[in-house]
Amino acid sequence: MTQATLFSLQDKVAVVTGGTGVLGSAMARGLAAAGARVGILGRRAEKAADVARAIEEAGGEAMVLRADVLDRAQLEAAREAVVSAWGGVDVLINAAGGNVAAATVVGDLTFFKVGQEALEQVLELNLMGSILPSQVFGEVMAERASGSIINISSMAAQKSLTRVVGYSAAKAAIDNFTKWLAVELAQKYGPSLRVNAIAPGFFIGEQNRALLLNEDDSLTERGRLIVDHTPMGRFGEPEELVGTAVWLSSDAARFVTGVVVPVDGGFSAFSGI
Ligand SMILES: NC(=O)c1ccc[n+]([C@@H]2O[C@H](COP(=O)([O-])OP(=O)(O)OC[C@H]3O[C@@H](n4cnc5c(N)ncnc54)[C@H](OP(=O)(O)O)[C@@H]3O)[C@@H](O)[C@H]2O)c1
Repeated sequence: MTQATLFSLQDKVAVVTGGTGVLGSAMARGLAAAGARVGILGRRAEKAADVARAIEEAGGEAMVLRADVLDRAQLEAAREAVVSAWGGVDVLINAAGGNVAAATVVGDLTFFKVGQEALEQVLELNLMGSILPSQVFGEVMAERASGSIINISSMAAQKSLTRVVGYSAAKAAIDNFTKWLAVELAQKYGPSLRVNAIAPGFFIGEQNRALLLNEDDSLTERGRLIVDHTPMGRFGEPEELVGTAVWLSSDAARFVTGVVVPVDGGFSAFSGI
């Protein structure tokens, strides 16, 4: 391994859940540009096909994996498709997730009245939606005693962000799950199996656009608060997650497991004063 190939993902196979989304698709394109063959996993096959096409047009290799991260049978079918086409799985990015509006304390809704169903839904999507793919694709990695799982946490995991009660609990659980699984896999299946997380700061996504930006693209009050608490003074660009995703996927991070890396323009470092 030379310095030049340290970050290469040549001959590696990656699966990105939520590869149809804003952050997942950017990371999928980034892994492909680093040499990986990438499975784009999501429920929207057409959107996955768009991402796969963009990767192929840039000279990479990609596959559409239509699956719900909460459906074990669909995940197993996706695993079968990847393994039979490409021989294994080296990298899993669990980027499917997000908030559920009804699990948010906003307007007239107090914490005391937030619905149980909405809370369960947001916990299920973010936590179970990362645990299940880690079981299904991680098993293939364990058989070969090699692989890298990358979960997607959030700023809400470590600091209290107002309103998002269910989402925050779910992402805090992701941080814990990341550390737990890192220990489990390294101890039982060998040091080449790693589990880490990226905690993105604030990026304009499909789900949070209306929360952060007005129709004329000026900042909402919440958007302004976020930018004011981000020392770099702006939102992130999805492509700015690629460097960390490639690093954690590659041999450059071969002694790194159980960490949560903020990519946040300094948000988590800042006290606000
Ligand atoms: N944007 C931000 O500022 C930010 C900050 C911190 C953390 N995050 C986290 O980063 C991740 C990606 O967020 P994003 O902003 O890229 O959101 P996004 O554009 O909405 O992407 C999320 C993706 O998750 C997929 N998904 C949702 N439910 C699914 C299910 N049951 N099965 C399979 N896929 C499912 C959706 O794909 P399909 O509809 O095709 O299934 C969607 O494309 C999330 O975990 C989010 O919480 C985002």
